[in-house]
Amino acid sequence: MSYNRKMKSPFQIENETEYKEWRKKKLSLYPVKKENLFTKFDNKDLSNIGIDSLKKIIKKYNFASYEFNTKLTDANIQEFCSRLQLKDSISNLLANENDISNITDQSTVKEKKSGVEYIPYTNKQLNWHTDGYYYPIKDSVKSFLLHCENPAANGGQNILLDHEIMYIYLRDHNPDFIEILMQNNIMEIPKNNNISGSSSIVGPVFYTDEDGCLNMRFTSRQQNIIWQKSDMIKKIKDYIFSFIAEDNKYVINILLKENQGYIANNILHKREKYIDGENKRLLKRLRFSRRVE
Ligand SMILES: [Fe+2]
Repeated sequence: MSYNRKMKSPFQIENETEYKEWRKKKLSLYPVKKENLFTKFDNKDLSNIGIDSLKKIIKKYNFASYEFNTKLTDANIQEFCSRLQLKDSISNLLANENDISNITDQSTVKEKKSGVEYIPYTNKQLNWHTDGYYYPIKDSVKSFLLHCENPAANGGQNILLDHEIMYIYLRDHNPDFIEILMQNNIMEIPKNNNISGSSSIVGPVFYTDEDGCLNMRFTSRQQNIIWQKSDMIKKIKDYIFSFIAEDNKYVINILLKENQGYIANNILHKREKYIDGENKRLLKRLRFSRRVE
């Protein structure tokens, strides 16, 4: 949730008054009904009312879902994003020329090709993470869109948790947790031997960007990640994992249907495993170096 930029940042540990004020407002938004997170677009004209509705929801929850009554082309998706001032898209190895990644089960293709399996491009469960945690902060992913072109026959639910809620949960328990998670050497992603020129990335879990907004780098994967070694880090990790393991009023489940999607300021998310029907599940993903403001 954004806060009044004129006031001191609620994300500085010493600013307890501002934090309490911001926290109270944030928590008062829950529980939330799913329909209050949802905006419908009746055509591709992208009415101002629809766009404003999305922005308002994202301002509160750091994400919003939507539905179109017709199929979108890649160009339509780009146009939709640009109406939300999302123009600085971030590419990756598997993205197309529009920086759009086709998230679909390619496990058999990939295995044949390189022997490397990228879990997003399979039908397996994808555990809690934020996008781009393996990028340096200067290239970080601040927001993304996930648009469903074709759902699975069964499963594939997306499960979301605003990272600002995680921040509150940790800070309320022990403010030292936050100070530690904001240090620049907490989590290291070792270099990827499959990518030439790759180097290891070390950084914090929580950080505030140039606009004072809170961002999170996180993955619950156990391989190819090196956490700083200390009893305190172990304690913090256990605490984080216990929170994301439970089903609480802050966790939102979304099963995207055809022509539905969601846009998020890179909140925590995971995906359930799925089974394809006749047509493969296909989600389009576009990532940006800016948040929706
Ligand atoms: Fe993701």
